Amino acid sequence: MKNTQAYSQLSQLAENLQTTDLKSLFDDENRFEQFHVTMPGAMLDFSKQKITSEIFNQLVSLAKEVDLKGWIDRLISGEKLNHTEGRAAWHTALRNLSEPLPEVELQWHKMAYIVHELHSKQMRGYSGKPIYDVVNIGVGGSDLGPLMVTHALEMQKKPDAPNVHFVSTLDGRQLQSILAKLNPETTLFVVASKSFTTIDTLSLAETAKEWMLDHCGCSTTVMRHFIGVSTNVPKMSEWGILPDYQLEFWDWVGGRFSLWSSIGLTIAIQQGMEGFKTLLQGAHDMDTHFQEAPIEQNLPALVGLIGVWNTNFLNLAGQAILPYDSRLKHFAGYLEQLEMESNGKHTQRDGEFVDYRTCPILWGEVGPNAQHAFYQLLHQGTERVMSDFILFKEGQGTDERAQFHQNLNIANCLAQSRAMMVGQESDDPHKHYPGNQVSNTLLLDRVDAYHLGMLVALYEHKVFTQSVVWNINPFDQWGVELGKKIALNILDSIEQKQADHLDGSTQGILKQIWEHTYAN
Ligand code: F6P
Repeated sequence: MKNTQAYSQLSQLAENLQTTDLKSLFDDENRFEQFHVTMPGAMLDFSKQKITSEIFNQLVSLAKEVDLKGWIDRLISGEKLNHTEGRAAWHTALRNLSEPLPEVELQWHKMAYIVHELHSKQMRGYSGKPIYDVVNIGVGGSDLGPLMVTHALEMQKKPDAPNVHFVSTLDGRQLQSILAKLNPETTLFVVASKSFTTIDTLSLAETAKEWMLDHCGCSTTVMRHFIGVSTNVPKMSEWGILPDYQLEFWDWVGGRFSLWSSIGLTIAIQQGMEGFKTLLQGAHDMDTHFQEAPIEQNLPALVGLIGVWNTNFLNLAGQAILPYDSRLKHFAGYLEQLEMESNGKHTQRDGEFVDYRTCPILWGEVGPNAQHAFYQLLHQGTERVMSDFILFKEGQGTDERAQFHQNLNIANCLAQSRAMMVGQESDDPHKHYPGNQVSNTLLLDRVDAYHLGMLVALYEHKVFTQSVVWNINPFDQWGVELGKKIALNILDSIEQKQADHLDGSTQGILKQIWEHTYAN
């Protein structure tokens, strides 16, 4: 990035802009016209960014200098861009409904069969009763995507669909509290794990198997309550998943990009196969836009480039995600993995360390709740943060009361982004609002499978755009491996009750736990 001409130009432009107040940029009456882009179903307003037309042009030049378009073509054609693992990152192939890969189509058929069996109450448990509850056991990408989507689309649940539940935390309490409410005779588990070696998922699945065995008592029929979803067929079989109950995907699907694969089974169960394919279609239309639209009109590329401007030239290290719809409750959590596991890296593709910032710290919450929680920092804190407001034109209903709530919601969203931009002077320092906090507003038509597919793909491509500029591989995640290895060593020490070889802090904490445990 630093060796581009655009980088020097942008550094100079950032310098010149230092004393410019965001609100003064709105003296230009055409600012919104100039700094918003649309595509069918979505609009990006980036007029509340500290951007001028010169900066915009240089960001576009930066994208051209790093050959963003070439990288997009390589991504979508399935080239092995994940070079540290020798794999493609071909999630876009999972949503190409008009030209599907044969192996993808085969999995759609298998998913459709399971969905049909569940909806028609043909799939029955050990006592012959139909399945009413499906529990997804998975973590990270094998949990967050399906959890986020099924929560967002709950209102569109197919009437005959079983309820879906999600379990991910290895402490076991989340699983226990769900199991306490379920009937084993009518419960199906989906063990979702790309690797089928993740200890979190396997330990929970083992507990679920024991629970099921305690009730049904028969080790052969019990396995009719477990579907496996993985790239690792031998491991699924070893664990006992029956061949007809195995769904597959492939190493070219990254965990955090896997909701579009058979990992999305719970989405298909809730929404029906058609609903699942509508989600894929929304994402595919965003893929086409990303590949075909010029950078100047390209929503994901622009969101990515604006993020680069804020991160590398304005030195902002925080990114807030603020959806104004409670159905997007899990969206920020989903993006935390997508963005930070992808671009939270300090190594360039060739192994050189970066000497510039990469992924900012990203967090978020449904806007109206967050207003009463952390917006204080956004309005009067010492940190400069970039925010994405996400708003939908349609609310959750059409009656008068629903319309009133939607108007209130829109008013609050617009009030907050405006307040962050303009601030307010006051002689009382406690009531002084500096403003000058930058934001995007993404406006979509409604929360449905199609628009959600678009929105998620938009952020996937934002992440990819930034990775190209930062010259990093967004598709590996070596950083999470060290903790897993150390956890296994510490588990061993706990089981042996032998902590002397560990560091002082770890020893001290373990000793306090042991004193407490053996005193009680
Ligand atoms: O530890 C990180 C990670 O590998 C994520 O990338 C992945 O989504 C998650 O763990 C779960 O992995 P798996 O689906 O293989 O169980």
